[in-house]
Amino acid sequence: MPNACKLAAGNWKMNGLRADLLEARALARAFPSPGCGILLCPPATLIAGMAEALRGSALMVGGQDCHARESGAHTGDISARMLADAGARHVILGHSERRADHGESSAEVAAKAHAAHGAGLVAIICLGETEAERDAGRTLDVVLGQLQDSLPQGAGAANTVIAYEPVWAIGTGRTPTRDQIAEVHDALRDAVPDKAMSLLYGGSVKPGNAAEIFAIANVDGALVGGASLKASDFGAIITALDAA
Ligand code: 13P
Repeated sequence: MPNACKLAAGNWKMNGLRADLLEARALARAFPSPGCGILLCPPATLIAGMAEALRGSALMVGGQDCHARESGAHTGDISARMLADAGARHVILGHSERRADHGESSAEVAAKAHAAHGAGLVAIICLGETEAERDAGRTLDVVLGQLQDSLPQGAGAANTVIAYEPVWAIGTGRTPTRDQIAEVHDALRDAVPDKAMSLLYGGSVKPGNAAEIFAIANVDGALVGGASLKASDFGAIITALDAA
């Protein structure tokens, strides 16, 4: 079976001004030839500037969302092609904050992922249960259901990454147990159409817990929020992934 690629992905969410590009530059200097993929997904306003700042480095830049259409009358939205034109290689889709704040369904996520693939971007498709769903014993049902409905036709390891992010672990400092992460990642590996797809864990990943999380089978990396904003913190997570 081919090995999935290791990826450390940072999701800056709605954080970051041009002055913060120095964090991206510091990270690029610290990892001239990393043993894993390193991706930063800043807000849309910084994508082109970050791509320019990281030109010639090993680091990649991505977006946090895209529209399912290529162009048109969609005020405030950004197409996958525009992200690619700005220098993005990846786009995060279906993050739980977008599913909650913008009512995004898995069918919409699949349409966006299809658009991302059409523009040559790798789609990072996010899945995860709420605390109430976990307490009701529905975690695998929810996550595997989201996977099935969010993956577009033609999704494979070359154009799609899956991120398991339990909603209750995001920004809370709470992480699932080793066994809880392993259960979901094992089920995802069985369910994905291409066994070489990278499976990321996300939710309160920090320098202090990264090595333990990366030691779990079928965890190929992380999607990191708060701890990706500072080069020192994200760098420690990348080092842990490199060593895993
Ligand atoms: P935190 O790492 O801040 O918990 O956020 C995780 C996340 O939502 C990444 O997409």
